[in-house]
Amino acid sequence: MSNQKQKVVVLTGAGISAESGLATFRDADGLWEGHDVMEVASPEGWRKNPELVLEFYNQRRKSALDVKPNAAHLALVKLEEMFDVRIITQNVDDLHERAGSTHILHLHGKLFENRSTQDSSLIYPVQGWELKLGDLCEKGSQLRPNIVWFGEPVPLIEQAIEETMTADYLLVIGTSLQVYPAAGLLSYAPHDTPIYLVDPNTPAVSHRRNLTILKEKATEGVPKIVKQFLAS
Ligand code: APR
Repeated sequence: MSNQKQKVVVLTGAGISAESGLATFRDADGLWEGHDVMEVASPEGWRKNPELVLEFYNQRRKSALDVKPNAAHLALVKLEEMFDVRIITQNVDDLHERAGSTHILHLHGKLFENRSTQDSSLIYPVQGWELKLGDLCEKGSQLRPNIVWFGEPVPLIEQAIEETMTADYLLVIGTSLQVYPAAGLLSYAPHDTPIYLVDPNTPAVSHRRNLTILKEKATEGVPKIVKQFLAS
């Protein structure tokens, strides 16, 4: 049965987690307000002041510990009843996992993992939320959050492109589409693929046919679209 299901590729951004209580990046009061991105989320920043970087991510982990998936995350799980749903998320929180989605690609890494600074294949689930200077991997190198920083390659982008190229539908939720390569994924969807965009401040997406824009919050727009899909 499952190979007969149509494929819905879902690209999510910080906006889908906003109503769970996690700040977005570029909205007012967003995470980048009051932070110099390059200081806290780049290899240069890490070299210059690792303590500041660790403090930034420790705080984000702390805020993400007790949050719950919202109606948008849950609706995407329900969509799996009839569709082959592939989530490509720019989010580093684990709300899609907590909701129960099955196929999730974390393009920008995971907040609840650390990795070795020397060997990116050495990845460790986070025990508590605090990572300190002096916390080492099994080979004796400093651990860092398993996050893709600005200026670093995005290892899962090829896989995300492949998923998008075979999408029957594309659902884009809560992303300003300002950060590449993630923002470029839309252009890999086959030309006539229907695209649904859910965001109260819809970003500019040009030259697409079959584009439906829901200028709504994720918890309103996503359950609505899912209901429509399941009824079709
Ligand atoms: N429901 C849906 N969308 C929302 C909601 C909501 N309740 N609240 C805000 N949004 C939208 C905003 O209108 C905006 O378009 O979510 C989007 C958030 O955009 P950004 O803050 O730029 O987040 P994102 O697109 O995920 O950022 C991409 O940038 O800094 C990096 O690595 C970081 O993964 C992140 C990447």
